[in-house]
Amino acid sequence: MNILVFGKDGQLGGALQKQLLQPSMQHNHLSFVGRSECDLGNLDQLTYTLNAHKPDLIINAAAYTAVDKAEVEPDLAFSINAVAPSIMANYAVQHRCALLHFSTDYIFDGSKQGTYTENDVVNPLGIYGKSKQAGEDAIVTVFAQHSTAQYAIFRTSWVYGDGGNFIRTILRLAKERPALKVIDDQFGVPTNAEWLADVAMHFVLDRDHVRPFNSGIYHAAPVGETSWYGLACLAAQVALESGQQLQMLPAEITPIPASEYPLPAPRPMNSRLSRDKLQMELERLAIVSKLPHWNTPWSDQVAAYVKKLSEQ
Ligand SMILES: NC(=O)c1ccc[n+]([C@@H]2O[C@H](COP(=O)([O-])OP(=O)(O)OC[C@H]3O[C@@H](n4cnc5c(N)ncnc54)[C@H](OP(=O)(O)O)[C@@H]3O)[C@@H](O)[C@H]2O)c1
Repeated sequence: MNILVFGKDGQLGGALQKQLLQPSMQHNHLSFVGRSECDLGNLDQLTYTLNAHKPDLIINAAAYTAVDKAEVEPDLAFSINAVAPSIMANYAVQHRCALLHFSTDYIFDGSKQGTYTENDVVNPLGIYGKSKQAGEDAIVTVFAQHSTAQYAIFRTSWVYGDGGNFIRTILRLAKERPALKVIDDQFGVPTNAEWLADVAMHFVLDRDHVRPFNSGIYHAAPVGETSWYGLACLAAQVALESGQQLQMLPAEITPIPASEYPLPAPRPMNSRLSRDKLQMELERLAIVSKLPHWNTPWSDQVAAYVKKLSEQ
């Protein structure tokens, strides 16, 4: 089977490469594509790449993810996050190819009490979220006319891996500054890119076949929830315990409301994702036993990540 992965140089793209290159996953012809091989803002290049690789499975981990910059570059954000996925979807239904796409908690407005399910109404607050919602809508619409074709959209949240992310920023600042203020009234679930890649690849792949998963949108995040403040404190604490030299103790991080830290793009106050639908599908497909970290809480995963960073 030909598998074509877009976004190879991103946090998730890097984790997908690691996952797919493991011996247990190597039953397929793999192509990893980054911006230099295919600029998703160039739709002719995208069409050419799809026709050249003739994939049986497209995995789209590429995205315009600069949440604040998107406010002043809406056309580019929509081109990469909505138009490019719609071209991938059209290619997929016309060529008996499956599609795995990733989306975001930022398609919600955050006004719900409790966790968001896949059936909750979306209402993105900023351009990034709107462009990702448009990408979701395009894929769902294209596949709705082809009931036998398979697609999955994994909505995830607060991703960290190899690349720039909130945890790395906090650890850098903790080395540079004696104190820090972090938002404590926005809630979500930090998601390790390697965890997500492991779950997603087991979900779509059964050796050299696409698994018979039910098409649709799935929420994918680890167990638990926290605020940015909670995440920052844990990261600083583990870094300290792992021997990193910080200027700042976790107790010197001050919790503040989001209203005291205005950013160009508004963020949802609550973006906690319920993973019940994904859990049920993993059970139906009998994959849960293949995922030893499926139930590992976000905090254990962050601690392991920070320890690993400390050893580098
Ligand atoms: N990061 C998060 O907190 C978060 C939260 C929720 C959902 N998600 C979703 O999860 C998925 C993976 O995110 P991530 O954290 O891995 O993002 P990331 O680290 O920012 O990676 C995105 C990748 O997309 C590539 N890309 C951007 N514009 C492109 C273009 N014009 N042509 C080709 N490639 C382009 C980037 O290429 P370059 O390396 O060349 O820049 C980068 O490698 C995305 O769908 C994102 O929306 C992320």
